[in-house]
Amino acid sequence: MQFTEEFLEKLTEANRIVFFTGAGISAESGVSTFRGKEGIWNKIKPEELASFDAFLKNPNMVWEWYQYRRKIVNEAAPNPGHLAIAEFEKYFKDVCVVTQNVDNLHARAGSSYIYELHGNIERNYCINCKTFYNKDELQFSEKTPICKICSGLIRPDVVWFGELLPEQIFIDAESKAIHSDICFVVGTSALVYPAANIPILAKRSGSYLVEVNIESTELSRFADHSFIGKSGEILPKILNEVKNLRTV
Ligand code: APR
Repeated sequence: MQFTEEFLEKLTEANRIVFFTGAGISAESGVSTFRGKEGIWNKIKPEELASFDAFLKNPNMVWEWYQYRRKIVNEAAPNPGHLAIAEFEKYFKDVCVVTQNVDNLHARAGSSYIYELHGNIERNYCINCKTFYNKDELQFSEKTPICKICSGLIRPDVVWFGELLPEQIFIDAESKAIHSDICFVVGTSALVYPAANIPILAKRSGSYLVEVNIESTELSRFADHSFIGKSGEILPKILNEVKNLRTV
């Protein structure tokens, strides 16, 4: 894999790195993406399972689906792409992950600073009193659990279509993007807003935009450099280059 002089220079000079990631980085861990040929949304209508209305209409059906996704995520393991990102922290002053993924794989790979724009499938909360329940506090079954405090329905702490992103997390992620030297955009179709604004904000603030994807995307025209291929293969190679260029 060839690296341009410009890219190597950026890797040598940079201090602050943002990794903006999407479902594609977890594809090699066996977690399906949403769009593309094998994407979830080709098989299921998002409004039927990933919206608050759908949950109110049929909470057990939605809960059961998240139980199925949790099973896949729990049986999955971080892949070399997740692990490489975590290891970048050894070579740069400030590395963070801004992710659209709810699968917890960046945390399990050892990344320290993660901004979860769309929530986390391991967390849950009561739709009435907002009490949070982590997975150990809930009797997981196919039936939607009930809040011990107010008997409200408990839902997964993920952002459904039509819902707002967690405000402070988004504000912090924007700030990281604005102050970044390099923003890697990994495994995302960059079609879902406002999350997809993050790499554009980084670019507009002078950050060097590097895309890693198996195909070109809406964002490719903004990228200073695009690596076409699997993130689990490309990110470890970029990390190796970093190891040659920088000392711990
Ligand atoms: N390596 C790199 N890129 C990959 C790989 C891989 N191994 N496999 C797939 N991709 C790319 C696809 O080409 C596609 O561009 O990952 C992208 C996945 O795009 P989506 O399925 O649209 O996922 P994402 O961009 O994360 O979706 C954003 O939409 O459905 C909502 O809330 C959900 O967070 C999600 C948001």
